[in-house]
Amino acid sequence: MAIVYHENSREFHLYNNEISYIFKIMDNEQLGQLYYGKHINDRESFGHLLEYGFRDMAPCVFEGNHVFSLEHVKQEYPAYGTGDMRYSAFEIEQKNGSLITDFKYKSHSIYEGKPKLAGLPATYTEAPGEAVTLEIFLEDALIQTDLILTYTIYEEMPVLTRNARYVCSSAEGITLKAAMSASIDLPDNNYEMIDLSGAWGRERSVNVHQLHYGVQGVYSMRGSSSHQFNPFLALKRPEAGEFTGEVLGFSLVYSGNFLAQVEVDTFDVTRILMGIHPNGFQWSMAKGDTFQTPEVVMVYSNEGLNKMSQTYHKLYRTRLARGKWRDLPRPILINNWEATYFNFNEEKIIGIAETAKKLGIELFVLDDGWFGKRDDANSSLGDWFPDPKKLPGGIKGIAEKVTKLGLQFGLWFEPEMVNKDSDLYRAHPEWMLAAPGRNISHGRNQYVLDFSKDEVIEYVGGLVEKVLEEAPISYVKWDMNRSMSEVFSQGQDAGCQGKVIHRCILGVYKLYERLTEKFPHILFESCASGGGRFDPGMLYYAPQGWISDDTDAVERLKIQYGTSYVYPLSSMGSHVSAVPNHQVFRNTHIDTRANVAYFGTFGYELDLNQLSPEEQQSVAQQVQFMKKYRELIQKGVFYRLSNPFEKNETAWMVVSEDRMQALVGYYRVLQPVNTGYKRLVLKGLQEDSQYTVSSRETSHYGDELMNCGLVISDRASGVSKKETELGETKQGDYYSCLFLLEAI
Ligand code: DGJ
Repeated sequence: MAIVYHENSREFHLYNNEISYIFKIMDNEQLGQLYYGKHINDRESFGHLLEYGFRDMAPCVFEGNHVFSLEHVKQEYPAYGTGDMRYSAFEIEQKNGSLITDFKYKSHSIYEGKPKLAGLPATYTEAPGEAVTLEIFLEDALIQTDLILTYTIYEEMPVLTRNARYVCSSAEGITLKAAMSASIDLPDNNYEMIDLSGAWGRERSVNVHQLHYGVQGVYSMRGSSSHQFNPFLALKRPEAGEFTGEVLGFSLVYSGNFLAQVEVDTFDVTRILMGIHPNGFQWSMAKGDTFQTPEVVMVYSNEGLNKMSQTYHKLYRTRLARGKWRDLPRPILINNWEATYFNFNEEKIIGIAETAKKLGIELFVLDDGWFGKRDDANSSLGDWFPDPKKLPGGIKGIAEKVTKLGLQFGLWFEPEMVNKDSDLYRAHPEWMLAAPGRNISHGRNQYVLDFSKDEVIEYVGGLVEKVLEEAPISYVKWDMNRSMSEVFSQGQDAGCQGKVIHRCILGVYKLYERLTEKFPHILFESCASGGGRFDPGMLYYAPQGWISDDTDAVERLKIQYGTSYVYPLSSMGSHVSAVPNHQVFRNTHIDTRANVAYFGTFGYELDLNQLSPEEQQSVAQQVQFMKKYRELIQKGVFYRLSNPFEKNETAWMVVSEDRMQALVGYYRVLQPVNTGYKRLVLKGLQEDSQYTVSSRETSHYGDELMNCGLVISDRASGVSKKETELGETKQGDYYSCLFLLEAI
């Protein structure tokens, strides 16, 4: 791994065994992009790739240089208004109203490791030699502003991270109207774009389309990364699939408004921009101020989408998630939300906890409704005091009772929100985001607290801390149930208003940092009406997140499959819930529900006391199973085998790092009749090792399983099986089955 600077050609080459990223200082002292892709041999100059050329009608060329037009060169971080007519990476308004800038190369530094980003989540290194960093210092002398572009390349992974930092030294000040984290120009447009779009209840659907001229992309302007889009996109070659072909992934480590945009110009150049969404963003800077953008994580794969995902999984599981829980097996939990909603008392909770303990579950989570007078979604957010009517002994009382049973205790909060019917709102109406004289929209009867104000974070943080200090709490579910609207910070001056949305996100990070630091033993799970803020930024603080409020096993196949494009299984909160399912009213077998939920951080979300003795028996077996295999599931290498967005059948598998063990999940939504014989081609095994396959009497070499496949023909293809596979449900709709493979 290296970052090389060639003095004569003024070129930078960042490379490891898998990737190369090359750019140069151009004649105008700005940065030109030369190559990003599979690793190539280093040499003094790749300058010919800049492709200067004379175009008769070129609109804007440099004075005295007819072949140099910014519109026609590929750039690293393009400016607005200087001859490049495409979308720029930034816009700076100056005192005289000008938006024209000229950032010229000043110096650079190359050093071992990876710096932290002030106030923001980011990937990190742990041991020397894991990564090298390059910082390029550019200066616009006229406005006395520095722009620092930072690049880090990892040694063992095809990963490059980028961010930008602005430092204002001008007494006149400047205003950032847009400040992307990264921009890159690619020399052709032969790509399909993949994004993870969706809505509440169907988050992160895989959406693929051919690039077209003009702009396309995904974004959020909701104050959170959102259910609708995820801060991720990939460009893949049309022929690339799960296991072959070139794929470029771009993922933003941020939880607020974002823009991920692809622009194809008429010369077929593809420009990718990623960063904080410029809408509603306006960052005024005085002399001495610094503005730091979030980080973009770029992953390269020439072995298809699976390899891209596996790289993100490894990086995000081991070098983005932090803390004690990063590497520990996650506790199997029971959450009371779908069991009781707001309607519970201590007796009911203890009743569920007792059964949970009997069945081997490890953690009880008390969800919404334990505080203030919260019997429905109309009141009490902000009043983080236990409701004595429901919990006479307070949180301390119930937590002690639960822990005495031998379970850990977890608790729900929604720190960023307030109801008008709350003591907090009555005391501090000015703490809520609200534009004066305007209608203020509510969402679920609640309003957004102004986390751009330190005193608000201080107050809410203090209340949460008090609860966490008083009781034996080892898990927190941090929820967030609405988008931001009518954003205005009451009492703050006009110049601050364009900072509020981003500052609110910084405020969330600040509170997370404070709580995770103070309570390192607590496992945090992020949540936002399910998967409305499931992003890399959250993963830095909370190593797992609730991926969707939709707990139906069939719907979850798609949600988990789409989520796996970027996020590791260890981050995916997935539970077995009751039937008929509360979101789609579907009935599925309890084993199918578990067979899906195993591929994540496993738990239950139902009233265990309403289950039949046979179902309780199934739960006990499932819990034992998960305890035995969670290490494999949460840390293994994940392979997608059959795509629920395209087929009736979903299949995936996870293989231990030493490839001695693997677990395959196979799911069929509707029962077909009289189909052809079927085999499932597996991945990731050792070719020359023999594997036993659960419930089968034979064993098979890895190369057979990865080439001929595993025979999965069953009665749908006229084969009646005698033995029952692991976790197999009865044939019929919503059939599922697991195969455990163990090397002999
Ligand atoms: C939305 C979450 O996604 C649910 O799991 C639950 O915690 C409710 N909020 C509680 O209000």
